Amino acid sequence: MIDYQEFKKLAGQLVGINLNEYKSQQMDRRIHSLMQSWELDNYDLFLETLKTNTAKYKEFVKKLTINVSEFFRNPERFMELWHRVLPELLAEHATLKIWSAGCSNGAEPYSVALIVNELGVSDRIEIFGTDIDEVILNKARKGVYEFNDLKNTPPELVDKYFTLTDNQYHLNSNIKNKVNFLSHNLLKDPFLNSFHLIICRNVVIYFTEEAKRNLYLKFYDSLIPGGYLLVGGTEPLLAYRKLGFVSVSASFYQKPKSISDESDLN
Ligand SMILES: C[S@@+](CC[C@H](N)C(=O)[O-])C[C@H]1O[C@@H](n2cnc3c(N)ncnc32)[C@H](O)[C@@H]1O
Repeated sequence: MIDYQEFKKLAGQLVGINLNEYKSQQMDRRIHSLMQSWELDNYDLFLETLKTNTAKYKEFVKKLTINVSEFFRNPERFMELWHRVLPELLAEHATLKIWSAGCSNGAEPYSVALIVNELGVSDRIEIFGTDIDEVILNKARKGVYEFNDLKNTPPELVDKYFTLTDNQYHLNSNIKNKVNFLSHNLLKDPFLNSFHLIICRNVVIYFTEEAKRNLYLKFYDSLIPGGYLLVGGTEPLLAYRKLGFVSVSASFYQKPKSISDESDLN
């Protein structure tokens, strides 16, 4: 019989995440609530179920990685992106590479794609959306949403880019085609680089302090000098200076453009 620690290790290997890199209380609660609802009374059976039952395996991954998202979540950040950050980056670079890390159902990278289209610069921008959860990525690729997902979206953009059928909002294909969705585990997989903007919001809430620090260091390396990192409203980078970033405005951090900018910080 395996114990809980062993279960966590083996189940983590199965999913490809080190469950010890997540804060343990929340994680333990979620794992055990699932175990209870499936009426399993030992960890061997739990592990066997995950290995043999695809639907339950997917439910397990989903449970570990709450997927809540919406278009223009915290609209004021997207307005800053639209009216200040993107115009500034576009003035300095011919093309931009943008990454929504932990993109869930696609609402976040698609919000960026809508802004980019409104700015008339779609052909200068490449957008990636990545997530660990394959099920939610497939949902993202479909681009079909409920009204609630769009409640913060400027109404003129809803009218212009969505078609309402059977109470569901279908995103236009040219916007859908603008985002490349890829499966990617932020705690394990290698990172792409040369990004001008990385958006990672509401993903690290369950990561340990050490996992967060490693993640932000890797984001730093993946940004070009002068590139921006946008984080969630409730997860400011307290140690941004130590990580090498400059705090630009609420939730926006910038990698210094040159070494001399960096030494100004010390
Ligand atoms: C609450 S959603 C946030 C979605 C979007 N960023 C937003 O703020 O609206 C968190 C997403 O992070 C993903 N996630 C959790 N752990 C991850 C990991 N280790 N690697 C990649 N994605 C992860 C989850 O699958 C989930 O879709």
